[in-house]
Amino acid sequence: MTKTKKQEWNSNLAFLMAMIGSAVGLGNIWRFPYVLYSNGGGSFMIPYIVSLFLLGISFVLVEYAVGYKFKRSLARILYSIKEKFEPIAWFILLIVFLITTYYICVVGWDLIYFVLSMTQQWGANPDLYFANNVLHATSSVYGIFSIVPNVFVSIFLIWVAACLILRQDLNDGIGRVSKILLPLLVLIVIGIVVFSLTLPGASIGYTQIFTPDWSALGNLNVWLAAFGQIVFSLSLGMAIAMTYASYLPEGSNLVDNAVLVAFSNSGFEVFNSIGIFSILGFMALTSGLPFNELVTEGTGLAFVVFPQVFNTMGDVSLVIAPLFFLCILFAGITSVIALLEGVCYSISEKFLIERKKTATIVCIVGFLISILFSTSLGSTILGVFDTYLNNFALLFAILLECIIFGWIYKFDDLIETLNKNSRIQVGKTWKVVIKYILPICILGLWIQGVWTTISSADTLSIIIMAALTVILIVIPIIFAKLPALNKDYYNV
Ligand code: PFF
Repeated sequence: MTKTKKQEWNSNLAFLMAMIGSAVGLGNIWRFPYVLYSNGGGSFMIPYIVSLFLLGISFVLVEYAVGYKFKRSLARILYSIKEKFEPIAWFILLIVFLITTYYICVVGWDLIYFVLSMTQQWGANPDLYFANNVLHATSSVYGIFSIVPNVFVSIFLIWVAACLILRQDLNDGIGRVSKILLPLLVLIVIGIVVFSLTLPGASIGYTQIFTPDWSALGNLNVWLAAFGQIVFSLSLGMAIAMTYASYLPEGSNLVDNAVLVAFSNSGFEVFNSIGIFSILGFMALTSGLPFNELVTEGTGLAFVVFPQVFNTMGDVSLVIAPLFFLCILFAGITSVIALLEGVCYSISEKFLIERKKTATIVCIVGFLISILFSTSLGSTILGVFDTYLNNFALLFAILLECIIFGWIYKFDDLIETLNKNSRIQVGKTWKVVIKYILPICILGLWIQGVWTTISSADTLSIIIMAALTVILIVIPIIFAKLPALNKDYYNV
């Protein structure tokens, strides 16, 4: 008898909502508009759609097929394929876990802004407010010893929320939360986009992004940017799709689900960017600033540019601003639980720890690491973690996954798994994509990522990256070497 109960989605809708919730995150809201704008505007949609179909959906299909066929956690799947591959699974899971520790911090900042937005407490200088009053940022290394209370508390609250959701049974926790938060998120975004289109100057924004620059299509970096956005936005290679698909009952239609998830995620980010750009268009008109100076990405867009916009909007911003930050909060939480579920599943399956306990242990350890980001040096360390883990470690992990599933595992078994219950049949083309095209594109992105990471590194970054490299080698080996407490674990 195993102590861990086999989990299964109680409806395809629960699976779909959880999958879309995992994909729709901060990347859709503040990364996509910037990537779209800086890579040719309207013409960017061509490499974006090609990447979505050719690479994004193809890789999601691999993850679905593997998860569904094995019905196991990533660690046990890789162990079953080849004993020696188990450390690779823990390597991938550790990357995902570390990404979560800082992703949660950004969601925590957003929680602070949600509260601040009720009274627009950021004042006339949101940029200074963000650096001095929210982050208490310093570049001195001694900043690591001073914890910023507001950030600490909000990170703690997000970890508690994630823990409470993960401790529940699959359908009562992740399933139900996704079914509630995702429709709310979509409603808020529809409201914001409709409102943004009524603003004076909106057309300055949305026409800019849909005005194509055809010459950009000849630029390799634009194609890499499109592919990079798909990797980030669909959360490729993070064991999420694999984990969620392993909870699907027999007879599920994997291909239709993959297409639906990918379309919903991309539809969301394109639709949302119309709102973001219309609001920036309004700002360009009212402030007289050139449009391109307003288009930033990440925290700069959400916590600096948008508060500036809200300052000029009058009373209506007392409604729009909290809704905007709430939207980021919901998108962030559904992604956080997805990132953690795969990690918990592997630990729980190998060490035979029940779901509730695993979630609590993982969240406590995660919170302890996140404390690092609640210090005055936190935002600097977060930047290094983000660049290193996303540009370097994660892409390397996806490359390994392509090699293992495309070249070493019996690929035809995956084709059979997908085609069994699907109207759309996959075959040779898919095989060619996974075996050749996808690894080449990932390699291209990886080389570009390594180059950017190295060329922008200062001494502190190099020390942090070296420490992360050691951690990413040592801990996975230890986890793989630890004996499984679950006897079934070794049944391949
Ligand atoms: N796809 C989600 C997003 O776009 O925010 C989740 C995610 C992707 C989280 C990549 C973290 C990450 F590095």
